[in-house]
Order: sequence, then C-alpha cells, then structure tokens
Amino acid sequence: MSTLRLEDLKQYSDVLRTRQGVALNVRFVEPRDTDEIQHYFRSLSTRSRYNRFFGAISELPKGLLHDFLQVGDRERFTVVATIMVDGFETIVGEARYALHAESATLEFGLSVDDRWQGYGIATALLKNLECRAAALGAEHIFGDTLRSNETMISLARKSGFAFVNHPDDWKLVRFDKEIAVAPKDIPCASWRLAALSRQADSPSASA
Ligand SMILES: CC(C)(COP(=O)(O)OP(=O)(O)OC[C@H]1O[C@@H](n2cnc3c(N)ncnc32)[C@H](O)[C@@H]1OP(=O)(O)O)[C@@H](O)C(=O)NCCC(=O)NCCS
Repeated sequence: MSTLRLEDLKQYSDVLRTRQGVALNVRFVEPRDTDEIQHYFRSLSTRSRYNRFFGAISELPKGLLHDFLQVGDRERFTVVATIMVDGFETIVGEARYALHAESATLEFGLSVDDRWQGYGIATALLKNLECRAAALGAEHIFGDTLRSNETMISLARKSGFAFVNHPDDWKLVRFDKEIAVAPKDIPCASWRLAALSRQADSPSASA
C-alpha cells in the first residue's frame, strides 16, 4: 500500500467544532510537529498518559515517536487536533489509527489535553475517525481501553460502540462499532479525497 505523500497532506485537514463551537482543525501530523507532539504528551497528566498507553511513560519513547510521524506507513496514521490559541496553532488532541485490511477493521487510540477535556473534542474526533474508517473501506472501528477508564467507556457508549472482552488481556475492554456507510453528515470530505488518491497510487487498485 502506498504512503501518502507529505506534500499532499495539508489538503486532507478537516475543520470540526468543539461543543462550544470553537474551530478544531484535524490534520495529519507532520515532521515540523515533532517537538510539539512530544511536548503534548509530556504535558498530559500522568493518569491520561497511563490511560492512553496502558503503562507509565513520561513521553513517547524514541521508536514510538518515530512511528507516530510516519503517516500512512503500514496503514498507520496519526492525526492531531489543533486549536488557535492567542494566534498559535496548539495541539489539543491526537489520534492514531491503523487499518487492518484483512479484517476490514480500523483500530484507534486517542487522547485530549487535560485542559481541553470535557469540551466534546474526543466526541468530534471519534466521528471523524469513523468517517476515515469508512473511506478506507473498514466495516468496523474498534479500540481498547483499561476497564478502569470510565471516561473512555462512557464516551464509547455515548458514541454507539458495543463492548466485548479483549481477546488477550483481562484488564482491557474492547469497544467496537459497525460502520454502515460513509456517513454523510460527518465533516471529513477531505479524507474521502485522500482515500481516493491513495487508491489511485496503489498498484493493487488497478489489479
Ligand atoms: C477519554 C478522553 C479522550 C475523552 O476526551 P474529551 O474530549 O474530554 O471527551 P468529550 O468532551 O467528547 O466527552 C465525551 C464523553 O466522555 C465522558 N466524559 C468526559 N469527561 C468525563 C469525566 N471527567 N468523567 C466521566 N466521563 C467523562 C462523558 O460521557 C462525555 O459525554 P458528555 O459530556 O455528553 O457527558 C480524554 O479523557 C482523554 O484523553 N483521556 C486520556 C487518554 C485516554 O483515556 N484515551 C482512551 C484510551 S485510547
């Protein structure tokens, strides 16, 4: 499968809204974000980082940081959600997702800056991810969370996910949602464009 070309990435941004109507830009992470994404993870509360990575880390380990920045590599993608604060584009959330083509599923994990939690950012991001999943041909979208993570469980429930046991780890619960069609009211038309260009690039698309 092809990796999306870096110079093309900017056109695949989506503008979403927080519950208060603040514009939230969702775009692929870029090399210029390296320091800021690391700063973002360092600034998360210990609890949020633990919930995001299921373990105690203070920042992204080097290998993971590298992986985060490889958009499209092995069908894995990282998006950042940004808000303009005092004239500066500020990362307030992130999501990483992977397409498992063999099972037509999209797996994801996400986080929101503690100072920005409770504003509907994750709800908006989740809808955006569903649209990205649909555009990539996934039939289900799923994620894993610690059983103790009531916030994520509540968010997933409200967003229409069903819960199943994690296949390998009793401490985790898996939430899963069937994707019926590319939803028309979800504002991520730009991602459909990205999926189309990806298919056009892929040698298998013409086979
Ligand atoms: C889980 C997380 C992404 C939610 O982000 P968020 O932007 O605050 O979520 P939203 O504002 O969209 O809230 C959605 C729902 O989550 C639930 N929720 C939000 N904050 C909550 C809290 N403090 N306690 C309990 N439930 C809460 C509510 O059901 C809420 O819906 P409501 O506002 O209609 O009641 C965020 O808490 C986070 O980043 N946590 C750390 C990382 C993590 O746990 N990731 C998930 C595993 S991959």
